[in-house]
Amino acid sequence: MAHARSIAKLFTSRETMEGAGVRLHRAFGYHTIPDFDPFLMFDDFRADRPEDYLAGFPWHPHRGIETVTYMLEGTVEHGDSMGHVGNVDAGGVQWMTAGSGIIHQEMPKPINGRMGGFQLWVNLPRAHKMMDPWYQEISAEKIPLVRLPGGIQIRVISGRIGDTAGPVNPVIADMEYLDVSLDPDSSFTHAVKPGSMAAAYVISGSGRFDQQSKDDLVNRSVVLYGQEGETIGIHAGSQGVRFLLFSGKPLREPIAWGGPIVMNTQEELEQAFSDYEHDRFIRKKS
Ligand code: FE2
Repeated sequence: MAHARSIAKLFTSRETMEGAGVRLHRAFGYHTIPDFDPFLMFDDFRADRPEDYLAGFPWHPHRGIETVTYMLEGTVEHGDSMGHVGNVDAGGVQWMTAGSGIIHQEMPKPINGRMGGFQLWVNLPRAHKMMDPWYQEISAEKIPLVRLPGGIQIRVISGRIGDTAGPVNPVIADMEYLDVSLDPDSSFTHAVKPGSMAAAYVISGSGRFDQQSKDDLVNRSVVLYGQEGETIGIHAGSQGVRFLLFSGKPLREPIAWGGPIVMNTQEELEQAFSDYEHDRFIRKKS
């Protein structure tokens, strides 16, 4: 019989300032290395007050990582050094592989007064940190909604539920990213790959995230599962629960992290900042 994983660490996302003055909630980041490996950071930038986000994230570089932006409401206008310009609209995802280098801006804007979304940073393994940058833009209707018996609805951003695969097939990362909604008092059991890390982030309602838990977890709870066990099990409270679930294979490589650039060694990090300073950051294709 499959053995369910237990919660190893449990905390709440913390308010912090980023970009040009965006007030957001960080679920995990620099201080949680290596717990969430292969993921580096997860930011929740749902906000009610435009002054908390309109300053946005003006032009900045990335190297060595992928950023995955998932919008629930409003939009993010973006532009980048590859000449892409566009919007990530509600229900849609931008999957950006920075690889050797990208310079971009990301500006959250309200629609009908509402804006909210999330950004996940996925680490690239040493062998792929300097790959050519690229990105995938996936609109809401391209993300399948799977309904399972027992009041379970899952938007499959990446990974697979039964025969339904998400539209994002990460070239490098072996990972899944699901947006799960459970009806009141319903239960969800999900298999996770052996050796992979699994984590959940509650975005509304409440629920119990392992069998030992007595208390329901609420909005902004961060759950890191232990490595033992083949499944995770969540039981929704009386209002139902909605959460984001991610799992992935840890890279177990050294991390040298400087703001928006994440490499393996200090030399590589210094090289990246020197490249940026001397206008060599963006590799021209031959
Ligand atoms: Fe960025």
